[in-house]
Amino acid sequence: MRDHIRLLLGTEERVLRSIDPTQTVMRWLREEAFRRGTKEGCAEGDCGACTVVIGRLSSSGEIRYQPVNSCIQFVGTLDGCQLLTVEDLADADGTLHPIQTAIVDQHGSQCGFCTPGFIMSMAAIWLNGEVLDRQGIEDALAGNLCRCTGYGPIIAAAETIAAMPKHAPDPSIKARLAAWNDDDDIVAGSANRLFHAPASLESLAQIANDNPSGTILAGSTDVGLWVTKQNRKLNPVIWLGRVGALQQIIDGDLIEIGAGVDYERAVAVITQHYPAAAEMFRRLGSRQIREAGTIG
Ligand code: FES
Ligand code: FES
Repeated sequence: MRDHIRLLLGTEERVLRSIDPTQTVMRWLREEAFRRGTKEGCAEGDCGACTVVIGRLSSSGEIRYQPVNSCIQFVGTLDGCQLLTVEDLADADGTLHPIQTAIVDQHGSQCGFCTPGFIMSMAAIWLNGEVLDRQGIEDALAGNLCRCTGYGPIIAAAETIAAMPKHAPDPSIKARLAAWNDDDDIVAGSANRLFHAPASLESLAQIANDNPSGTILAGSTDVGLWVTKQNRKLNPVIWLGRVGALQQIIDGDLIEIGAGVDYERAVAVITQHYPAAAEMFRRLGSRQIREAGTIG
């Protein structure tokens, strides 16, 4: 049993014990980590101003970088991850990252409120080494809204990513995340505000049985809004993200999709068999929502 979560904020290790089970990643970044480049626009997963990148070790041992809406993700779900914000891009001496330079060169920002979110969506493309055509870029940025610049200059900046040197993953980050890969159930928080992250189906069943009023949390694309829009006090929160059996896709005679699998992973398999479904899934939410939301 573990009483804390741990993450890399950029390259800095953070251990969080007294977490509020429904504190959003955005609130934690702005109010406790004092990283205020991440903005709140809508607080409901629509505008993308709050986009951050979460690096998670996949079952293949590689880091998958996911752009997500930090306004509706709870801080406990960062356990075992690398969290990257716009502050992580420029060099220590202030030299801008090429994505930031491209935004400047293409005049891709006016008031600037949306800009960190767009930049982090582009950073995910670069970190994953995704090769995208114009349609792919538009899809990757469809969850980021801008009220003043117009999308032409922003897309022009994104198109320069393809010409950039590919991101070379830092092996030390992978090693640090791998070292945290344990089978501990997590119970963090305070006496009457708890965040549970069971690590097995058995633990999940036990915790759910012991806490009939608990809220089961998967991708947070609905539950997050219960907090940010309805001010509900959820207690305890029971997160499924550490239950490996719910994260599996078995592609055989049937496609079995674990209830905790996010849309992006599921769609990659489904569309291999049913290419026509790609157009439907492209219109489902946004990239950030599909990276977090689950089917089951
Ligand atoms: Fe609008 Fe998060 S603040 S998506
Ligand atoms: Fe103002 Fe995009 S630059 S909202």
